Amino acid sequence: MEDEVYLFHQFLYPMNLFINKIINLLESEISLPPDKIGALLEQPPDNKMGDYALPCFSIAKQLRKNPQDIAAELSQKLVPNDTIVQITATGPYLNFHVAKPLLFRTVLEEIASTGASYGNSLIGKDKTIIIDYSSPNIAKHLAVHHLRSAVIGNAIYNLFKALGYRCIGINHLGDWGTQFGQLIVALKRWGSNFAITSKRNSFEEDSTKQETLTVNKLNELYVTFHKEAKTDKNLEEEAREWFKKLEDGDNEAKETWQHFKEISMLEFDRVYKRLGITFDSYAGESFYNEMLDDTVKRIKDSGLTEISEDALVVNLEKFNMPPCILRKRDEASLYATRDICAAEYRKREYHFDKMVYVVGSEQRLHFRQFFKVLEQMGYEWVDTCAHADFGLVKFKQGKMSTREGKVILLEDLLEESYKIAREIIEEKNPDLENREEVAENVGIGAIIFSELCTKRVKDVLFDWDVILNFDGETGPYVQYTHARMCSILRKYGESVTTSVDYNLLKEDDEIVLIKQLEGFPFAISRAADNYEPSILSNHLLDLCSTFNRYYQHHRILTDDNELRKARILLIDAIRQVIQNGLSILGLKSPERM
Ligand code: ARG
Repeated sequence: MEDEVYLFHQFLYPMNLFINKIINLLESEISLPPDKIGALLEQPPDNKMGDYALPCFSIAKQLRKNPQDIAAELSQKLVPNDTIVQITATGPYLNFHVAKPLLFRTVLEEIASTGASYGNSLIGKDKTIIIDYSSPNIAKHLAVHHLRSAVIGNAIYNLFKALGYRCIGINHLGDWGTQFGQLIVALKRWGSNFAITSKRNSFEEDSTKQETLTVNKLNELYVTFHKEAKTDKNLEEEAREWFKKLEDGDNEAKETWQHFKEISMLEFDRVYKRLGITFDSYAGESFYNEMLDDTVKRIKDSGLTEISEDALVVNLEKFNMPPCILRKRDEASLYATRDICAAEYRKREYHFDKMVYVVGSEQRLHFRQFFKVLEQMGYEWVDTCAHADFGLVKFKQGKMSTREGKVILLEDLLEESYKIAREIIEEKNPDLENREEVAENVGIGAIIFSELCTKRVKDVLFDWDVILNFDGETGPYVQYTHARMCSILRKYGESVTTSVDYNLLKEDDEIVLIKQLEGFPFAISRAADNYEPSILSNHLLDLCSTFNRYYQHHRILTDDNELRKARILLIDAIRQVIQNGLSILGLKSPERM
């Protein structure tokens, strides 16, 4: 079922010359407004069938006729013109064939004139989308799923930016919750050797406390706490008290927590910087602390709450879900409470038209629950909120596997990828000048692309041999193809011009290539629509493989002057489109590698 949605090449938006002409033709025959006709058009799976197709099912229903008959009838009735040169019927589909030289001219001229913005549109003008992504928990290392969320979220951000939306990227840091009470207790008991930098903090007074607290140490303290708590029953209670203090704004609690946050952010920022990922807001869970009472009051006032096992909950039994817990016995708030509050706040603050949470599939229930609570509160805008969930990242046994619960540090992962890329590049191209920089772009790009080339709901198997294979369906492969085109253009040495004879481009692969270039804006809008960057990454992979096949069988720098000029224009357009696509996905496009 899902696969079908993805194969559905509907042209909801980016209009173009050809779609307009088809609409003009159809307008007199079908009593539908132009945009509705446009929305019905599809791209046939095989170019040979036609360039655009009108499936006649819905019209048939309207006219109470058989779709085959309608297609046949219309193919007779409609008169081809200079743009739409042939109209045929295949079963229930009405196929339109466009004038190929005109197609080449239109697409190649547009790419040449728009350059880095080819593919962009204004579909989202004056609209706002919020993207909640990465959102790791502080005092812990960034986990692999936070990487996946960061990479997918960043691509979704760029996709919507390309559609003209105002994008707000939010890192909803997990910086609140009872675990911080536990950490404070652990630090007080077993961490007296750590210096806390905050001035007024009591830990600092003793100059023998010199060891610096790191995320690693915090992890250790966390483990110690849970080990000890098994026997020492007071610990949990103490931790609850400290979290309560934190919620009530106690100075010591707040400063210690602030310190946890600062050291975590240092690590997070290093990783984000290397990935080239940024956020517009770091308003995490703690940000909503002061607003929680109001939110809980609103939920109560809507008559949605009840007390269950001493906790305040919204019963979701009639929706077949466990209750959504808002407050525990001790009044402490929960993850869901803070998400409900954050959604309300974001609507007030940003007036978003869409909001998407890029979070792993294991949290599906959480999202269904709190979306349901928002709906029950009467917020119709909950329909514009989506959970773009994704599968797990699994590691192949071997280098950096997760055996025995060993955590894989993202920083190590990025560094390892860089190193492997550097080795490969040194071997392939020992004279390359900016080797380090290229290796960084290729190594990081390999990781990013590997997270984006399969549908996000699928699990991904992380395998170094696969992700860094220059001939596989990988980031380095796309980058390498791009660099190859740059090299052809360097060899050509002259400037690229659009004054070429478009009639000369007529090889089968050239036609496939031009269709893929033409389809690029649609791939962007489809990818955005489905919160599915893999639609775009696969479009790029297809484009690269067609190019490589074409390159194997045809000389681009031929002795025929005119043909050379035309082919070079085509190559330059492919290069541009790959660069634009990679940039949306979050990869760099080195010119040499
Ligand atoms: N901090 C959570 C985690 O690490 C993810 C938060 C996702 N965003 C949200 N608004 N709930 O699992």
